[in-house]
Amino acid sequence: MTHHGRVRIADFALERFFARWEFNARYLLCASDVEGYPMAELLGLADDETRALWDDLALGYTESTGHPLLRREIASLYETIEADEVLTFAGAEEAVFCLMNVLVGPGDHAVVTWPGYQSLYEVARACGAEVTLHELHEHNGWAIDLDVLARQLTPTTRLIVANLPHNPTGMLADRGTFDGLVELAAEAGVYLLVDEVYRGLELDPAERLPSGADVMPLGISLGVMSKSFAMAGLRIGWLATHDRDLLDRVARFKDYTTICSSAPSEILAIIALRARERVLARSRSIVAANLDHLDGFFGDWADRFTWVRPRSGSIGYPRLTVPGVRIDDWAAGLVEAEGVLLLPGSQFGHPGNHFRLGFGRANLPDALARLEAYARRTLR
Ligand SMILES: Cc1ncc(COP(=O)(O)O)c(C=O)c1O
Repeated sequence: MTHHGRVRIADFALERFFARWEFNARYLLCASDVEGYPMAELLGLADDETRALWDDLALGYTESTGHPLLRREIASLYETIEADEVLTFAGAEEAVFCLMNVLVGPGDHAVVTWPGYQSLYEVARACGAEVTLHELHEHNGWAIDLDVLARQLTPTTRLIVANLPHNPTGMLADRGTFDGLVELAAEAGVYLLVDEVYRGLELDPAERLPSGADVMPLGISLGVMSKSFAMAGLRIGWLATHDRDLLDRVARFKDYTTICSSAPSEILAIIALRARERVLARSRSIVAANLDHLDGFFGDWADRFTWVRPRSGSIGYPRLTVPGVRIDDWAAGLVEAEGVLLLPGSQFGHPGNHFRLGFGRANLPDALARLEAYARRTLR
């Protein structure tokens, strides 16, 4: 066994930022999750079987691959995935960590959409892989550029990572681009990891893309209860793929992280997934109502901010365009004066005065009113 020394990984900038602010700022106008689902309400959605599972639950270890009924419910989110082609984790974050450790190492190359969720490229780097960032641009609606992506592939490329719907821009690839991406990965014989944690929040359900795990043998879908399902506190995430050998190797790695999921969380997740239409409808109605507010704001302030309207998800990535005003400074003043937290693009290492805006929280109208009051004082 080769010994590479202790794991060295750069700080997760966004998590450090939230460590400072998440429980101090009054209005998280940049949170990516949807308003947490009330547990009492969730238990009210249980059927007889899941109610009994909850009432009779003993707090022992759980099956390390995930509760069989949970894996079955997760599998049913896909067209072609069987229960034993699903592996559960403590959130999507653990899934990314374990998968990258198994999939890539020194000598391997990965291409990852960017700006984006840092662990999608940072863990690969920490594993010794060379990472090329596939940069998305505001001017074309943050679209994936297949010609550029094709040129980014090298003989050592092992993995392409796409986050669709996308954090932080709310971009959703059109079907042609998605199909082209799958074709590229298949032709190159590389894995395609699709981070689908915002799947189900499409403003137009007809635009929902197929899942990565369904479209090719080396396709891997990453899912979680945190975002569309509004249950980040469960810390239940998963990988789905037809590559059972890969999943088995990831399971062996997970023996060194969490071993198995939290017993109560598994049952709550089963209840939620069985009631998925209702749970997702709640999330969609929150984000749709909040987007209406944002449309009003950005319509009025079009001369101060750009706004590529998200096609899906609970986040967007506008830009402050007032000459001489840096978003980092403006956001610092805003949280100080009004308790409203934005996430400057610098937290993604991304230049250009953008900021992430989250619209999954119930108090968005209040937060936006405060932001607007601050903008009137500082940007007019
Ligand atoms: C694109 C993306 N992937 C993965 C995750 C991780 O999800 P979790 O925090 O539930 O593990 C997040 C969370 O913000 C995310 O935005």
